[in-house]
Amino acid sequence: MKENSLFFKKFIAKRGEIGSVMPSSLPLVKKITNSIPFHEVKTLVELGGGTGAITHALINKKEKKTRLLVLEPDEQFFIFLEKKYSNDRKTTILKEKAENLKMILNRFHLHTSECIVCSLPFATMGREKTTKILTEIRKCMKQDSLFVFFQYTPLMLPIFLKQFRIKKVSYVLLNVPPALVFWCSPLEK
Ligand SMILES: C[S@@+](CC[C@H](N)C(=O)[O-])C[C@H]1O[C@@H](n2cnc3c(N)ncnc32)[C@H](O)[C@@H]1O
Repeated sequence: MKENSLFFKKFIAKRGEIGSVMPSSLPLVKKITNSIPFHEVKTLVELGGGTGAITHALINKKEKKTRLLVLEPDEQFFIFLEKKYSNDRKTTILKEKAENLKMILNRFHLHTSECIVCSLPFATMGREKTTKILTEIRKCMKQDSLFVFFQYTPLMLPIFLKQFRIKKVSYVLLNVPPALVFWCSPLEK
């Protein structure tokens, strides 16, 4: 499948930014998307679209009027996603990094998001970059916004806990590698 071969090629070229050898599995995608209250979400953000495993489910499950912004800095992944999903009028694929999320939301006059879905491999990104991205994500959330993300190890958990309250955790064995999914809300500022 071309998604899998492109993903594997990218993993070999930049392991630290990709984090896994293949796209998220269907059980992982379902676990992430089944607990999102889509009817409450006006602006949905996906950080790290890759080849669109999660993007596809978000487009299918979101309300028609919900705006979806997908950030993917890798050129080839970005082109791949653009070709596949730019026909959805309310979906915008951006060749951008999570580090710039606030500026991007402001550019679209959206300012905050009710739900941010993230698949960034924080454990291989390092503490400094992780803290920077989490701070940016928090700036884009309201008190009742939801931040859903998965990790392959709990290594960065102490860093998440400085900024977020974990509401629920789930483990998905049927993924390569198995993943922990976290549902969080921002800590009060
Ligand atoms: C583990 S992959 C997940 C891809 C896809 N969402 C999936 O579940 O199959 C991580 C993705 O994050 C992207 N990424 C890496 N650094 C990023 C950053 N600073 N901002 C946004 N996306 C980033 C990578 O290019 C890659 O597509």
